[in-house]
Amino acid sequence: MRLHVVAFGCQMSTADGGELAAPLLARGFRAAAAPEDADAVILNTCTVRQHAEDKALSLIGRLKPWKEANPDRVLIVAGCAAERLGPWIRRRFPYVDLVVGAKSIEDYPKVVAEAMAAKFDAMAENSAAFPDGTSSTTGFSAAPESPVGWLSPAVAPVTIMRGCNYSCSYCIVPHVRGRESYRPYEVVLAEARAKAALGAREILLLGQTVNSWRARAEDGVERRFPDLLRAVAAIDGVARVRFESPHPRFFDDALIEALRGIPGAGDHAHLPVQSGSDRVLALMRRNYAFDSFLERVGRLRAALPSIEVSTDIIVGFPTETDDDFERTLELVERLRPAWTYAFKYSPREGTESARGVDDVPAAVKEERLARLNALCDRFAEGALKARVGRSVEVLDETGGYGRTRDGFRVKWGTPAEPGRLRTVRLTGVMKRTLLGESE
Ligand code: 5AD
Ligand code: SF4
Repeated sequence: MRLHVVAFGCQMSTADGGELAAPLLARGFRAAAAPEDADAVILNTCTVRQHAEDKALSLIGRLKPWKEANPDRVLIVAGCAAERLGPWIRRRFPYVDLVVGAKSIEDYPKVVAEAMAAKFDAMAENSAAFPDGTSSTTGFSAAPESPVGWLSPAVAPVTIMRGCNYSCSYCIVPHVRGRESYRPYEVVLAEARAKAALGAREILLLGQTVNSWRARAEDGVERRFPDLLRAVAAIDGVARVRFESPHPRFFDDALIEALRGIPGAGDHAHLPVQSGSDRVLALMRRNYAFDSFLERVGRLRAALPSIEVSTDIIVGFPTETDDDFERTLELVERLRPAWTYAFKYSPREGTESARGVDDVPAAVKEERLARLNALCDRFAEGALKARVGRSVEVLDETGGYGRTRDGFRVKWGTPAEPGRLRTVRLTGVMKRTLLGESE
């Protein structure tokens, strides 16, 4: 029996895809490279922008012939768009077997077991009658041997918290994911240890506001995010710990201190700023302004001089003027991000900002996005070119290809040994990838 998982959206969605796959893998499914080769497909959907949602819905539509060709096949739709549109998805795509919203992911193994048991048993009987010559039940896919939900065979995600207690006016995440909940300290460490034992050299801690994590451990003592970072970094086999996405509010001195003390943790921070205009930031309810954001980044850079910062920006938020947008460009000039994810504002039903008018014309949004991207590309290219000639530590992720500690992609070819740290001398740049030679 074969399973194909597609995750749209963020890294949390990819990681959730792995968790959603687990009960099926435990029943003997193994990974298929494409839906056509699969008996079961899990789509983990995203709803953060309309475009992300449309892509997922269109794939559900395109899977209709696959499903109808053999009604024993199983189609599961999960995630953030499933949370928002569950009943509508059931009506619009009646051939979907199971719809599970993002809030239910913790209960998912039980939901799947109950809803799908009869179907899976029938499938198992069929596959026993027509064996496909494989017996893998380990959860490892065929090529490129990456466990489902991992970012590569050497990089494993560990979800430490879910949900968000903030109420940024444009954002649907608190609606579809609910309020913050933290996974217990011991559970997180056990998962990180298990993944390290399976070959993970880099652990990516995940959460919507990942650094707000805290939990009372079994010894009765409360642990905060910096404590967790240290404990994960100390696990045998773990060479790097990264985390996404931190909230600026919890990027405090204790976290900076921890990053200074952990090799392989303080080389990159993703700090979504969204806008450079104080007026727009207030409308977005971001709780910081142009100056206070840059002041915090300044403190971070003073403590960790080589840290690279990346960011997210939204253009065309309702009422955004040319002057507001100029402030965003000015902020980018000051921030010098190593890379940037820039988005056109997309109204999400039920959010505060969607109650107002989406009044920035599409052509203006497009033009602002192009100008912003041109500026951000300059910084991204500058950061890449500045590295040529240096020798850097690279984690081999897929064989001759991997990342630096600060998150830049590097290709060197041979020797190729996924999971190995090696020193690579950087010789050039191709698009967004550094080229180099192993030393
Ligand atoms: N429109 C456009 N971009 C959005 N983001 C979140 N909500 C919206 C929206 N309604 C962007 C933000 C966030 C990233 C994950 O997606 O930049 O940081
Ligand atoms: Fe998309 Fe946000 Fe859900 Fe991630 S958490 S899948 S970005 S809506």
